[in-house]
Amino acid sequence: MLHLYKYAKPLIFKVDPESAHQITLRALKTGILRPCSGFSSDTLKQSLWGLEFKNPVGLSAGFDKNAEVIAPILKLGFGSTEIGTVTPLPQNGNPKPRIFRDPERGAVINRLGFPNCGAVLFKKHLEDYRKTHDRSLGVVGVNIGMNKEQTDPAADYCFLIKELSEYADYLTVNISSPNTPGLRDLQEKGPLTDLLGKLTQTREELEGRKPPILVKLAPDLTEKQQEDIAETLLSCKIDGIILSNTTLDRPDYLPPDFSDQKGGLSGLPVKDKSTALIRNFYKLTKGKLPIIGVGGISTAEDAYEKIKSGASLVQLYTGMIYEGPLIAQNINKGLVDLLERDGHNSISDAIACGHFSA
Ligand SMILES: Cc1cc2nc3c(=O)[nH]c(=O)nc-3n(C[C@H](O)[C@H](O)[C@H](O)COP(=O)(O)O)c2cc1C
Repeated sequence: MLHLYKYAKPLIFKVDPESAHQITLRALKTGILRPCSGFSSDTLKQSLWGLEFKNPVGLSAGFDKNAEVIAPILKLGFGSTEIGTVTPLPQNGNPKPRIFRDPERGAVINRLGFPNCGAVLFKKHLEDYRKTHDRSLGVVGVNIGMNKEQTDPAADYCFLIKELSEYADYLTVNISSPNTPGLRDLQEKGPLTDLLGKLTQTREELEGRKPPILVKLAPDLTEKQQEDIAETLLSCKIDGIILSNTTLDRPDYLPPDFSDQKGGLSGLPVKDKSTALIRNFYKLTKGKLPIIGVGGISTAEDAYEKIKSGASLVQLYTGMIYEGPLIAQNINKGLVDLLERDGHNSISDAIACGHFSA
């Protein structure tokens, strides 16, 4: 079924992006989209934060907002999936339309504003998944955010840490969506130090599992902000960084009717910006904090570039919209060839190698 995507794509693209997404989720749930063949290679395996990643390619947050298609996604060949962003209370997000495609430039703009089913139902879905699947199927990260009306962000993040830690392999603190007013301000040094202090303390007080906490950042940070954040993440003992979320940039080459849409831009136009951010954060943190690289990945070369720049793992979303459900398998196959070409015995050997070569 999966290789038929090239025939299905023109039909899917006739439907508005959000309906197309709902159709895709339904197809995944019903099992219509089944993998043609599994691909695995020991070269791609990696252990990080005590978790076993069977390959470095993950699905990034926003695709499976309500934890509904965890197993089908992992069975497509992704080594991990990051579900959410979930907020404590259910919310509808912004008025529709709120997702826009520019297929020629491999780009998407979204201003969804965290529509999701809320923590109670999300937890039930995740609990059901855990009861029926072995952890070896793949790593499941949980991306947490705050409700739009919340005036005390830490309260929402701490609540979600307490509610979901038992089931999450790792937690991602999303402070970088451009679609929730004030959220990105949490990236400033004072608020960030305060927030992360409370979150790590909440995690330490848990009686059961204490999952690693990662922070997901925007690509639109000044050099000074990047320096401050790197220092804060290290001093707050955060476990990793996800670089990056969507950008507010609008490159000149985008057509005006697309470019004028409000929201976060993803896909090819954010690729180099996110790679530059990875390279800089690797330097600023002296390689002490594992980085998940995300932004504009659609080929093995794109993924490899992020790994060579300092990412230990990668994620993608927009690439799957344009390339289809075989994308993870194809990138993994391509990565094995690229590692072999460059004489690396494993994916770990290639991480940040771009920093050390001439
Ligand atoms: C439609 C859409 C919805 C998204 N929703 C979320 C979200 O809920 N939480 C989040 O952290 N990132 C979200 N993202 C950002 C992606 O996870 C990713 O960081 C960004 O799109 C860059 O990667 P890409 O170019 O591979 O899409 C969303 C992206 C898109 C396109």
